[in-house]
Amino acid sequence: MLNRPEPTIYEISSPGRRGVTLPELDVPETPIPEEFVRDRLLLPEVTELDVVRHFVRLSQKNFGVDVTFYPLGSCTMKYNPKVNEVAARLPGFARIHPLQAPETVQGALQLMYELQQYLAEITGFAATSLQPAAGAHGELTGILMIRKAIHEGRGEPHRTKVLIPDSAHGTNPASTTMSGLEVVEIPSDRRGNVDLEALKAHLDDTVLALMLTNPNTLGLFEEHLLEMTHLVHEAGGMVYGDGANLNAILGIAKPGELGFDVLHINLHKTFSTPHGGGGPGGGPVVCNEELAPYLPGPVVTMEEHENHVHYTWQMPEKSIGRVRAFWGNFAVLVRAYTYIRMLGPEGLRAVAENAVLNANYLAARIKDVYPIPYGTRTCMHEFVAQGKIEGAPDVRALDIAKRLIDYGFHPPTMYFPLIVPEALMIEPTETESKQTLDAFADALLRIAEEARTQPELLKEAPHHAPVRRLDEVRAARYPKLRDVPGLDEEEALSS
Ligand SMILES: Cc1ncc(COP(=O)(O)O)c(C=O)c1O
Repeated sequence: MLNRPEPTIYEISSPGRRGVTLPELDVPETPIPEEFVRDRLLLPEVTELDVVRHFVRLSQKNFGVDVTFYPLGSCTMKYNPKVNEVAARLPGFARIHPLQAPETVQGALQLMYELQQYLAEITGFAATSLQPAAGAHGELTGILMIRKAIHEGRGEPHRTKVLIPDSAHGTNPASTTMSGLEVVEIPSDRRGNVDLEALKAHLDDTVLALMLTNPNTLGLFEEHLLEMTHLVHEAGGMVYGDGANLNAILGIAKPGELGFDVLHINLHKTFSTPHGGGGPGGGPVVCNEELAPYLPGPVVTMEEHENHVHYTWQMPEKSIGRVRAFWGNFAVLVRAYTYIRMLGPEGLRAVAENAVLNANYLAARIKDVYPIPYGTRTCMHEFVAQGKIEGAPDVRALDIAKRLIDYGFHPPTMYFPLIVPEALMIEPTETESKQTLDAFADALLRIAEEARTQPELLKEAPHHAPVRRLDEVRAARYPKLRDVPGLDEEEALSS
């Protein structure tokens, strides 16, 4: 049943069917100007039951964290406690308006104020802005802050280069380019660290910043971190931290104490919130005293009066401005706050300990069959294996990933990071049990055996999914909007 192709909602449509019964509109004439009134409205005509079944069936065709193990490296697809959802839906949070006067939303402001404090405390920084809506947005924000602080604050506009290791997340060079700066790539050394000598060779007075993902996308903690941050500061630059992998060091190390000047946090990875498919996220930035005046605003502040405290907001003195309408994705902030309050300091530390333990356990179970470059090192919350199996020269990472679907698992991230050929980037997350990890490792080992004995099984996989192999680039670039009655594909796209 679930493998049967699902018709589009237009194919289910039948003239005259209705999902709701509304009273006749008691308006003598339409108040809408005539040029905006359409006589052809291409809405499907379906009953409520048709709609419910259609969307429930579609949802069941999808992989989700609530259904199966989802080891998508770099995405931290962990289980999200449902209590966070309850908190985010409380009417006092969900039904307020961002333009309300501060006196009427003191609870929401208190939550944001305390979250700003918690994030600064957890990461070892002086100040926080909750505005950015995602990780990459936080990167752009932080780099713009550094640019303003160095170009205007320190009067050094000639600094325009941002050094980015080849083990950084792909969004780092993209954000830097968007801010009008020049990206200089720094290679990795044999242990998966930034090559220190290559870094030194680039440190001159044109350098604005080093942008460092730590742990990096190989799942490794930079072994020369303190030396690197020191060298960059000595050369007059600042250090931007991509803190999206904070779940590996939560409660153990504070980036603010390791020489970073500003850092973004992916709330939707480290501090829960179901995400994926571009869903709403949160990418707050935290920074040191020097950069605090440049934070985007408004930031929430607290005034202490004789008998009470009052929460309000202000723009930091030299702010780069707003980077987001209103308050960022407020419901994501509620989830992060609930998660932090629920776990407390010990619980947050346990998140990191278990994330690292799970990744190392899984790596140990498969490393004899799937090569793991830099595998002699202890990994952090994730690791990168290779889809290269001895005795199966034609089998690729893609084939292994597709075959995993037949075993009921979401595939890992593939072909990233680019510096590892046939990469399978695996992040089990802290919320998985040993049984789940073992089941996944067993599947990978069985697939390796199949690769040697029946490679065609892998080449044609998946066999038991609603769709077989897609041309993924074409599927993303040219969504097939078929069978919208009365419209050709171009019209359908623009309607
Ligand atoms: C290390 C790292 N940096 C940056 C990002 C970008 O975050 P976002 O997808 O929220 O823009 C991610 C995303 O997972 C990441 O893993």
